[in-house]
Amino acid sequence: MSDEIFDIKAPSTTTTGAPAVSDRNSLSIGADGPVVLHDVHFLEQMAHFNREKVIERQPHAKGSGAFGVFETTEDVSRYTKAALFQPGAKTEMLARFSTVAGEQGSPDTWRDVRGFSLKFYTSEGNYDLVGNNTPVFFVRDPMKFPHFIRSQKRLPDSGLRDNHMQWDFWTLNPESAHQVTYLMGVRGLPKTWRNMNGYGSHTYMWVNAQGERFWVKYHFHTRQGMQFFSNAEASEKAGSDADYHRRDLFEAIARGDFPVWEMSVQVMPYDEAKTYRFNPFDLTKTWSHKDYPLIRVGTMTLNRNPENFFAQIEQAAFSPGNTVPGIGLSPDKMLLGRAFAYNDAQRNRIGANFHQIPVNQAKVPVNTYMMDGPMTYHHTGAAPVYVPNSGGRPWSDQEGPVDNGWEADGAMVRSAYTLHPQDDDFGQPGTLVREVLGDAERAALVETVAGSLLGGVREPVLGRALAYWKSIDPETGARIEDKVRTGSAPKPAEGQGQA
Ligand code: HEM
Repeated sequence: MSDEIFDIKAPSTTTTGAPAVSDRNSLSIGADGPVVLHDVHFLEQMAHFNREKVIERQPHAKGSGAFGVFETTEDVSRYTKAALFQPGAKTEMLARFSTVAGEQGSPDTWRDVRGFSLKFYTSEGNYDLVGNNTPVFFVRDPMKFPHFIRSQKRLPDSGLRDNHMQWDFWTLNPESAHQVTYLMGVRGLPKTWRNMNGYGSHTYMWVNAQGERFWVKYHFHTRQGMQFFSNAEASEKAGSDADYHRRDLFEAIARGDFPVWEMSVQVMPYDEAKTYRFNPFDLTKTWSHKDYPLIRVGTMTLNRNPENFFAQIEQAAFSPGNTVPGIGLSPDKMLLGRAFAYNDAQRNRIGANFHQIPVNQAKVPVNTYMMDGPMTYHHTGAAPVYVPNSGGRPWSDQEGPVDNGWEADGAMVRSAYTLHPQDDDFGQPGTLVREVLGDAERAALVETVAGSLLGGVREPVLGRALAYWKSIDPETGARIEDKVRTGSAPKPAEGQGQA
């Protein structure tokens, strides 16, 4: 190639800022001779290349995201004192969307639940909401989560995805029925990330300025409208453009077509949790909108693409444990398990100082006594490194009840949640199938489930899966059984019908 197309007047530099002599030719003894060991620039290139990936996220490895702004358009100050939810507040934010089970290069349009992670850079520190495009989840005890994810990933010997393993897990954990119904329905194949809703899924706590506590569930409704792919459309896209969702979001924002979601909450007065007909902390259940109608809060607009995917999306670190004053967790055991899991994953995935990377950094002053470690950038100079200290460096010292806590009592046990009057694993998914899905959606659900069961699910799991669907809805279960017994449903392509 000729040198004219290169701007050799402004050469690249080494990482230490000195001019890099050549990015094209290594240094050798004569044109045909061996490469020499003191070509430091060449060696640095090789060595850095070997280290330019971080471990992919265990679940939710494939995704992408964008920056934006959250604007509180309504007055919900009677429920929370959180600064970001005060009327008129505008908060810079980051969103990341993902599939759960697929690895980094897997197609965006394989059937799966989609992650919906939000980081709000609030005036009181970063607030993360790490949810999905469905309001419920597969299990209700965090002990089961690693087992669940393993069952959705790959067989230990062949390294293949496996419908049999997935259905084995689901049918042995019938609390999965509600989320599996969502997954096998239209929500499992959103047309784009812009066309899907998001949910906090868990119950969280809000606390107002008077110290009153409320239980809340977050809903983000897409203004673009919910749209879905059929199995055939998703399969075609998986083959023709594995990054279809990533591309769609990036290109929409690049052309100024900024996606918007409207955020609402369901609010339950603190004391009603004890007597609500469903256990309100059980992540496999929704709250009826008749009992707790949606209350509008504001809008989320994504308006800025990342300048660098790796630095700002791959290294983004979200955690449901990152809360701010006026917001708390709840007794949902899954949420409490997650409060540990994420930052620990990120210490392993990115490094102990992952919070110092610009995308993860708070936009307010940080005064943490956690210090040193690899890649330390921010530090406190000569200020005291211990508490209490007489050097004038502030520290925290609250005692007594916390304002976002709750009462807990009783012996230590290993047990399922206390049942509320209408708690059972199949009631809500049955309502979803019968009352929320239309005829066409129900027919598509039957095809998808039967196709997935025909994709290598063997006895006794097959019999259990058919019984599982009859427990959700007898008629739908019978239709699935009919298709499976006659082999008349199309078998799913690789990845289709899988979580
Ligand atoms: C006890 C249950 C759970 C555990 C232990 C767990 C653990 C994890 C871990 C370790 C990661 C990777 C984090 C990273 O490397 O940065 C992750 C990612 C994620 N999880 Fe969970 N998870 C659980 C349940 C859930 C639930 C219930 C939801 C949704 C309601 C969820 C949504 C997500 C999302 C959206 C991501 C991707 C975060 C991102 O975009 O960076 N997880 N999870």
